[in-house]
Amino acid sequence: MINFSPPPGVEDIFPETISSWQFIERSVSSFFPLYGFNEIRTPIFEYTEVFSKCIGEQTEIVQKEMYTFEDRGGRSLTLRPEGTAGIIRALNSPGQSDSKRVYYIGPMFRGEKPAAGRKRQFHQVGVENICQPSPELDAECIIMLTKFLKRIGIEQWTLKINSRGDAADRLNAGNKLKEIFSRLKPQLCEDCGKRLDRNVWRILDCKNPQCAELSLSAGNIGEMFSDTSNQYLDRVLAFLKQEKIPFEKDVRLVRGLDYYAHTVFELTHGGLGAQNAIAGGGRYEITSPGSKEAVYGVGFACGMERLLMAASSENRTSISRAPVSVFLISLGESAKKLNLAVAENLRDNGISAVADFENKSLKSAMRLADKLKAPFVLIRGDNEISKNTVIIKKMSDGTQAEAPDNELMQYFAKFISEKI
Ligand code: HAM
Repeated sequence: MINFSPPPGVEDIFPETISSWQFIERSVSSFFPLYGFNEIRTPIFEYTEVFSKCIGEQTEIVQKEMYTFEDRGGRSLTLRPEGTAGIIRALNSPGQSDSKRVYYIGPMFRGEKPAAGRKRQFHQVGVENICQPSPELDAECIIMLTKFLKRIGIEQWTLKINSRGDAADRLNAGNKLKEIFSRLKPQLCEDCGKRLDRNVWRILDCKNPQCAELSLSAGNIGEMFSDTSNQYLDRVLAFLKQEKIPFEKDVRLVRGLDYYAHTVFELTHGGLGAQNAIAGGGRYEITSPGSKEAVYGVGFACGMERLLMAASSENRTSISRAPVSVFLISLGESAKKLNLAVAENLRDNGISAVADFENKSLKSAMRLADKLKAPFVLIRGDNEISKNTVIIKKMSDGTQAEAPDNELMQYFAKFISEKI
């Protein structure tokens, strides 16, 4: 039989869990505007250079993980592996928008090896604040992220923070690191052997224990940076302290995207296993293809799948379907006609209703009502029709009452408003 399940690392999101996704989405759209951020929606695919140039030709994402294809005109296109590059491209398009603070929610695509919490299609919520370098704004970004996490029930995170210095620092420190690691090359793992030429910084956050040990011997990267860069990070840290945001300074935190300058940070969560980063971000300097000027900004993105895992490990989000308040059962054709009108009337009055019009037996219709967790079941048969009434069953205690048809709306409105 043909297997029609999605490809590895790609998942359906079913109605049983959608309310948790929507809860996060609603929290995003109610919370980020408090900081002056508005939503932006950029294309799912872009010209490949938008990503390769912004994220960096030598990064793992660009080298190994992008879904790149040619369109019929022979142009190279790529499914977005992250949000920042496309947003900078969009906001940099002349005459399109003067927005400086934007947030986004949507799918991203990376051809990584699928694992728990690591998908090939995953979803991010993120923000970008287009602004000149400012430790206050970097701190604000991190504070906003931690408050957002609190809103969605995630409090047990660890924040790691570091500086990537400015361009001159990176050149200087990069050369020093190359010198140090060239001497250690025989002891590095195979990947780091390649990183030595391609992207020496990534050796610093290699997960291989021997490389981790060797990278500690490379010393404190901060000491290779200028005083100005170190003072910049110190100011960010001072603001975090002022707002009582706990952090760990991690000199080995580099991040996998090359656009960062100055502050970089990552939040991990203990409830997740190996793929434990729930959010990452930092300050960046990006020159989009076709543009001569760098755009400065600061932002972050959270993986939504991982947020849901973290929230449920803290037992804070309830996963449930949208509630149905009234389930209507029709015993016979004439009852269906009347129940169809009542169901519409309930919905017009803001009361959710589902009617069974599939000629189910009373028993199986009741089973469905139970599954939908409807607090009320309305039953109508020929006997009720002759009296212009219906039977209302209250599922919480199993009691039944007969109610006149013309008092139904008042009846449900009363119970439901008390319940809500
Ligand atoms: P990133 O660290 O590559 O940063 O991704 C941010 C978050 O997306 C990660 O912390 C993780 O939660 C989630 N994520 C990444 N890859 C996967 C995957 N394969 N499966 C599931 N979740 C994943 C960025 O994307 C930057 N654009 C963040 C940023 C915004 N920096 C500045 N502004």
